[in-house]
Amino acid sequence: MFSARLFQCLLGMSALVYAGPCDIYASGGTPCVAAHSSTRALYNSYDGDLYQLVRASDDSTLEIGLLSTGGAANVAPQDSFCVNTICNITTIYDQSGKGNHLTQAPPGQAATGAGKNDYDILARASVAPHLINGNKVYGVYIIAGVGYRNDKTTGVATGDEPEGIYAVLSGTHYNTGCCFDYGNAETTNTDPGAGYMEAIYFGNRDVVSSGAGSGPWIEADLENGLYGKASTGNNPNNPSMNFNLVTAMVKGNSGNEWAIRGGDGVSGALTTIYSGVRPSGYSPMKKEGAIVLGVGGDNSDAGAGTFFEGAMTTGYPSDATENSVQANIVAAKYGLYS
Ligand SMILES: *[C@@H]1O[C@H](CO)[C@@H](O)[C@H](O)[C@H]1NC(C)=O
Repeated sequence: MFSARLFQCLLGMSALVYAGPCDIYASGGTPCVAAHSSTRALYNSYDGDLYQLVRASDDSTLEIGLLSTGGAANVAPQDSFCVNTICNITTIYDQSGKGNHLTQAPPGQAATGAGKNDYDILARASVAPHLINGNKVYGVYIIAGVGYRNDKTTGVATGDEPEGIYAVLSGTHYNTGCCFDYGNAETTNTDPGAGYMEAIYFGNRDVVSSGAGSGPWIEADLENGLYGKASTGNNPNNPSMNFNLVTAMVKGNSGNEWAIRGGDGVSGALTTIYSGVRPSGYSPMKKEGAIVLGVGGDNSDAGAGTFFEGAMTTGYPSDATENSVQANIVAAKYGLYS
């Protein structure tokens, strides 16, 4: 194992080549407690599976792992397993070691599709091919009715505890429906009121909050509302994220502090969209530590988007740590597959 000092040194010397996003969060003192990706390892040392498929032809399953330790997804087995049938993703594994895997979301209050009385539907597995460092990989393609969740997590922030969240998402697949989210949610699947969520939202829903232009925007779903600043309404400092790939970040500290940051997932640096106090009625937070992907905390299931990777930390990551994570995402070389 690396010593912390050797690790820091490698980090400095090698421009992040030896680190994954969760190694960077750990070296910043804010380790990941959930780490999900369909495209790559989020730790240099991760050598487990990324996700599980089920195919419609015979209901058999297949685990999708990595090309190498710490590397990109190995999707050649998926491509042969899924020939002439439909494959869906059943499970997105947590790489953090905390066991916070994401599976089919259970029924919830606000679902209008299958998830009203039954589990949400699963994402198709082979419809969002992309490249990472020249390797073909697949995103998790969320349409209305699709959702993943874990209501019994370990180590995820609750109450007013600090956390950070990041995700790499498609900048071209989104909608106005509520709500394509990734992050912390209530454990009950019903809306208990303000402050029970702290999640990344991505899309062009222009109902409660909006940003500059026509979207899509990165906002925070704090439950009972999407926020791009300390109140609802328009935040002209929240730019439309018209990139093929988008890095989105939301973080929340104890003591009435939070921030939204984001940028192009292929090049450049992060912009701080908002940093400051919480909306009125949101301090202290009442986080419950469930994790959602593709739906709101009450299982509102009308959102659309494509998820590639994301993680949640314990502790409030510094801007410098998040900037290093963005540099790592750029170095991973996401691109379109044609
Ligand atoms: C597989 O995915 C598609 C699209 O998301 C969905 O329509 C279908 O119901 C899914 N199958 C299952 C068993 O969830």
